[in-house]
Amino acid sequence: MTETITRGAANQAGAHINKNAYAEAKDFLPLNGLDHVEFWVGNARQAAHYYRALWGFTPIAYAGLETGVRDRTSYVMRRNDITLVVTGALGPDGPIAEHVKAHGDGVHDIAFSVDDATSAWRETTCRGARSVREPAELDGGEDGTLRVSSVGTYGSVQHSFVDRRDYQGVFAPGFRKIRKPARAATGMSLLEIDHCVGNVELGDMNRFVDYYRDVFGFAQLIHYDDKVIHTEYSALMSKVMTNGNGRIKFPINEPATGKKKSQIQEFLDYYYEAGTQHIALRTEDIVKTVRTLRDNGIEFLGMPHAYYEQLPGRVGDVGVSIETLEELGIEADRDEEGYLLQIFTRPIQDRPTFFFEIIERHGSRGFGVGNFKALFEAIEIEQARRGNL
Ligand code: FE2
Repeated sequence: MTETITRGAANQAGAHINKNAYAEAKDFLPLNGLDHVEFWVGNARQAAHYYRALWGFTPIAYAGLETGVRDRTSYVMRRNDITLVVTGALGPDGPIAEHVKAHGDGVHDIAFSVDDATSAWRETTCRGARSVREPAELDGGEDGTLRVSSVGTYGSVQHSFVDRRDYQGVFAPGFRKIRKPARAATGMSLLEIDHCVGNVELGDMNRFVDYYRDVFGFAQLIHYDDKVIHTEYSALMSKVMTNGNGRIKFPINEPATGKKKSQIQEFLDYYYEAGTQHIALRTEDIVKTVRTLRDNGIEFLGMPHAYYEQLPGRVGDVGVSIETLEELGIEADRDEEGYLLQIFTRPIQDRPTFFFEIIERHGSRGFGVGNFKALFEAIEIEQARRGNL
């Protein structure tokens, strides 16, 4: 039986939590966690500098002409348990160039770590997953064998299954280790990927919720209806899917009709397809991290003074002074399990599409629903500046 409760607090009405989600998730697809996220970009070399010099990621591996790869350049960037790969095309043809032409820079692959890439592919494709890459054994010579397979999800995004048990190389065959990487930025805490959010077309949210439930065995953790995620002008709906061990959390958003254009619709209008809207990075020191990132030139969404005036009454003590939260633009939310602090960057590429979230959790497993209204009003101010509201 699914136990769905509606939270009592006034600002959380419309958030339906499924307390049995982890038990309901099926175990035919054991996932160890996220292996990496790959972005297809217009210029991988400059994207690598961005992640290194501003976000503190170390370039650990490279693939390109010098390693025998003729059609692309990739850099593997790592900080703690976060591995990002940026890949660019070396010519006008092929899937990378076409992806960048259609979407701009964006997420291509949210890859899972598994113990058996063949079983993962078989279990998902027999349940209706669209195969992108049949199970393959990539020969890494003395580094061993890397086993991979891939299936599709919303838009052009794919999920690869990566089995590293018989592979000792730095990332994958075709990559070489970067032995003397340039110095990465310091002064921030970024530990792991907390969640990855997909934006899908109006009417498609439930289709992809079903896809993650039926094909991947995920369960629905939370449903936010358009009563909770709305402003005077626009609305969206969101459902959060999770796997059995809770390490993977994928909210799926769709636009809801309002007086003006939803931020989800703006994303879709500029990405030209469903895609990954944001990735949340978990921190243990959001104040220091945001201060450093701001010093490094990362731009964040601002929140109005009125938001901070009513914050103490809503969330109580969150271990950071309200003045500091307001100075840095950090938001706070509380539920029955604890509280969280979070902040969102502006879109990180030319198009108003992908952005990052930084999140510090103290017990709460939520997503900051108490901030949604104020947050979306802040986003709408920026949409209006872009002429898209
Ligand atoms: Fe988020």
